[in-house]
Amino acid sequence: EKKYDYLIVGAGLFGSVFAHEMTKLGKKCFVIDKRSHLGGNVYCENNEGINVHKYGAHIFHTNDKKIWDYVNQFATFNNYINSPLSLSKGKLYNLPFNMNTFYQLWGTKTPEEAKAVIDAQIEKYGVKSPKNLEEQALSLIGKDIYETLIKEYTEKQWGKKASELPAFIIKRLPVRYTYNNNYFNDVYQGIPIGGYNTIINGLLEGIETKTNVDFFSERESLSSIADKIVYTGKIDEFFDYKYGALEYRSLRFENQWHEMQNYQGNAVVNYNDSEYKFTRIIEHKHFEFGTQKNTIITKEYPENWDKSKEAYYPINNDVNQQKFKQYKEDALALKNVIFGGRLAEYRYYDMHQIIASSLKKVEEMHKKNLTI
Ligand code: FDA
Repeated sequence: EKKYDYLIVGAGLFGSVFAHEMTKLGKKCFVIDKRSHLGGNVYCENNEGINVHKYGAHIFHTNDKKIWDYVNQFATFNNYINSPLSLSKGKLYNLPFNMNTFYQLWGTKTPEEAKAVIDAQIEKYGVKSPKNLEEQALSLIGKDIYETLIKEYTEKQWGKKASELPAFIIKRLPVRYTYNNNYFNDVYQGIPIGGYNTIINGLLEGIETKTNVDFFSERESLSSIADKIVYTGKIDEFFDYKYGALEYRSLRFENQWHEMQNYQGNAVVNYNDSEYKFTRIIEHKHFEFGTQKNTIITKEYPENWDKSKEAYYPINNDVNQQKFKQYKEDALALKNVIFGGRLAEYRYYDMHQIIASSLKKVEEMHKKNLTI
């Protein structure tokens, strides 16, 4: 008899939800993380009362009532609505592209006027079969929006010219013919009061956890203490990169403390122009309507990834997908290891999707157990 039913590698949302649900079902779980804290990428660092989103801005949003009710067990959400601005060539524009943006660009006041401008530009600059991101964007939205709000931002994000990026990166460019700056279309949205750590602490309450433990530095002994392993780290690392490393895009965060109450008047301001090497500035206090005397901002710099950096965005090209397929086959052959979460599935997931996928995994395991 092993000491634990599950060893959970990674205390992010996937691992924490899994541990919580399995514990409720009477299983004994042990959660480890190589970082010095729990929570994975949703972790917030409290800095003089301001919750700093340490691994990038996190706004919770979902259309799924079940997931919304689920997270509301652990925290109350405020009524924050994400409404980013974009600074381009000295002027500020509202996002997502909506009637406010069109007014700022062209002075158009009615949906009909705005639509006429966009349609005429698509007609003039669009191409039949777009071969790269630039052609794709021009065909979907025309020249002004592309050049003012998309081109340079996207080039910084990916570190490549828009004319050299694949068209599929942009599938659709939603435009809204209403004066509505709400970035998300979802029914439920907000920031947990007290920050995301409140949710993580609620999920892991009463469960054995240990931070600063890298699974690979004690692989054998850790593998022997539980019947099953839930692995939420990088799938290629689990298999010692035998098919090669999966590629990512990384980010560097530069935090600045300012002795002023309000730096930019909004939580998120994008910087479109290439002269700024960062893509956006986050002012964390505005996620929680903070009234502290000082403020902390984060400049977000996209970066090339290597093994010494945090892996943020999977690079979904054929080469990487092919490698991932091979790793996935090997993973499926291991009956006592469950692979889950954004790194083990090599996929960009929003928080609500990760919670849903973890709950689904628990249900699958539970059903299997009942039939044995
Ligand atoms: P996560 O990365 O959180 O957890 C994995 C854990 O495993 C980490 O803590 C890691 O340290 C640990 N680990 C890995 N290898 C290990 C090893 N060998 N030993 C021990 N531990 C190990 N979503 C959303 O809904 N709204 C938003 O606004 C945003 N914003 C956003 C911004 C940015 C910049 C990014 C990159 C992502 C977002 N997201 C988001 C997505 C969100 O971050 C994501 O859905 C979840 O954090 C994923 O949770 P996981 O548990 O899968 O991974």
